[in-house]
Amino acid sequence: MTRRLEGYGAIVTGGGKGIGRAVVDRFVAEGTRVGVLLRSQADADSLREQHGDAVLPVLGDVRSWADNQRLVTQTVAAFGRLDVLVPNAGVYDFSDRFETIAGEDLEARFHELFSINVQGYLLAVRAALEPLREAQGSVIFTLSSSSFYPGGGGVLYVSSKHALVGTVKQLAFELAPDIRINAVAPGGTRTNLGGLDAAGDGRSLADIPGFDAMVAKTVPLGFLSEPEDHASLYVTLASRTESRFVTAEIIRSDGGLMVRGGGRKRKETA
Ligand SMILES: NC(=O)c1ccc[n+]([C@@H]2O[C@H](COP(=O)([O-])OP(=O)(O)OC[C@H]3O[C@@H](n4cnc5c(N)ncnc54)[C@H](O)[C@@H]3O)[C@@H](O)[C@H]2O)c1
Repeated sequence: MTRRLEGYGAIVTGGGKGIGRAVVDRFVAEGTRVGVLLRSQADADSLREQHGDAVLPVLGDVRSWADNQRLVTQTVAAFGRLDVLVPNAGVYDFSDRFETIAGEDLEARFHELFSINVQGYLLAVRAALEPLREAQGSVIFTLSSSSFYPGGGGVLYVSSKHALVGTVKQLAFELAPDIRINAVAPGGTRTNLGGLDAAGDGRSLADIPGFDAMVAKTVPLGFLSEPEDHASLYVTLASRTESRFVTAEIIRSDGGLMVRGGGRKRKETA
């Protein structure tokens, strides 16, 4: 069977864990070599152990222009090309209600969350522009159901993910016809998505009591997704043959939140 991304070069930020890691694993399985920006040496070691020379782990911070540049330079030096960029690293605000955040804390929390969730994506695209243009490549953002709906996060997380919808559209507009810009918007997914240093936050999604059941109850398809459930959508959007006429598109992988409905109850799942 032909591998769907044979010979491609890619970058995934925040690819040591969670959804990013599932995308890295899947890209490698499809024949792609992947530069991965991550923060943990243990995750870097685990990637190398599983994928050997097909991955290039680069330790760094998505908030740093220098780290994004180093990621792109080292990836292109190692693999000779860059066809796909997946800005994905993110942090969560654990749905903290606006009125509970003290005014003096809001500035630091806003800066930390937006500098990772929004600025981090912009820096990665800017650093990768030339090699992506050369390869006539594409960018795939990890968005969220919080890019469309309130209530799955607090105002900082939800507004950051809404901001990325505009970013997809504007960059798709500006960078056509050379570079396609698309996104995958997952809903609730079993990961250890973490919180803000500025909130003193050691929490992770996995610590939210009853998170599984809450998501299962909320979405029409009735279950909490796994990171792997989203990965093939990134492959489709990355492939020049499978989606060459697609840009500015956001694929929702959220169990059908758009059709939750209001009145009549859907059939209960077990
Ligand atoms: N888990 C969910 O329910 C869910 C739903 C929709 C969207 N998302 C989005 O998916 C993306 C991946 O999150 P995940 O759920 O897989 O969680 P995760 O914590 O497993 O992955 C996030 C990764 O980003 C990295 N990261 C955070 N800040 C960074 C920084 N400053 N520099 C470099 N790396 C940094 C983390 O180390 C981690 O590896 C995020 O953008 C998140 O908003 C998650």
